[in-house]
Amino acid sequence: MGTSQHLFSEERSAEVVAASFAGTPDPRLRQLTTALVKHLHAFVKEVELTEAEWGYAIDFLTRTGHMSDGARQEFILLSDVLGVSMLVETINHRSGGVATESTVLGPFHMVESPPRALGENIALDGKGTPCLVSGRVTGPDGEPVPGAQVDVWQANDDGFYDVQQPGVQPERNLRGLFTADGDGRFRFRSVVPRYYPIPDDGPVGELLAATARHPYRPAHLHFIVSAPGYRPVTTHVFVADGPYLDSDAVFGVKDSLVRDVPEVDDPARAAEAGLPNPFRTLTFDVALLREDSTAPAPS
Ligand SMILES: [Fe+2]
Repeated sequence: MGTSQHLFSEERSAEVVAASFAGTPDPRLRQLTTALVKHLHAFVKEVELTEAEWGYAIDFLTRTGHMSDGARQEFILLSDVLGVSMLVETINHRSGGVATESTVLGPFHMVESPPRALGENIALDGKGTPCLVSGRVTGPDGEPVPGAQVDVWQANDDGFYDVQQPGVQPERNLRGLFTADGDGRFRFRSVVPRYYPIPDDGPVGELLAATARHPYRPAHLHFIVSAPGYRPVTTHVFVADGPYLDSDAVFGVKDSLVRDVPEVDDPARAAEAGLPNPFRTLTFDVALLREDSTAPAPS
């Protein structure tokens, strides 16, 4: 056997480089590096990448890193607009048609939501259309999950999260960590979410502009619901009839997560909820899978 088949060539590039990882002790790391090399080399060959394009890509990724800090995660945005975040989320949290479907975490869950009492108002800036949000957390057989933790966050009526506007919005505006009651029910006051653009003043915005894509996400409210003995779900509820539901910049929309937010004109109910009349209501029931259930197959 000569040495030539171990040397790099255009034809055998992926094979030769993959072979260099053959001695990786951790089998999963070996699988990841080998598959990465195979697909990366196939990509470069398919498009016959030029040196200028390679240089642009290096500079793009470098700027993506420089754009990221404690309040901005440009790499997550990049993963989001390429659909990778949704794919990873979906593969790892198959709902089997039983549980509430998951969607992307997004880049704005970077501060802990403050614990709040059921019924509290998370809209500290007073902007937007008042909305009563409520729902019930159940298990796969419809059994209530008492004491489930319901972590919620949303953008304000100007389309920004609190962490994007320090000094403009009150700290922890539109965030709350609620504990469901003994029947698995939760409720809180907020405002109807509004659509917003993902931050597009960095490399990811440059990518969207160059490819004639818009940066908008349809109106949504983020949830992470968890309880001992159950698999947590990271998801959103989307507002029906709003713009961008069928062209979410990060591909997060699933039909099962869209809800109407009907108006209620009832002074007694408004007074009971602590909201001005009329107000809107959003109902989002959440079904969790048990921790020990086997992962359902792709549906
Ligand atoms: Fe969001």
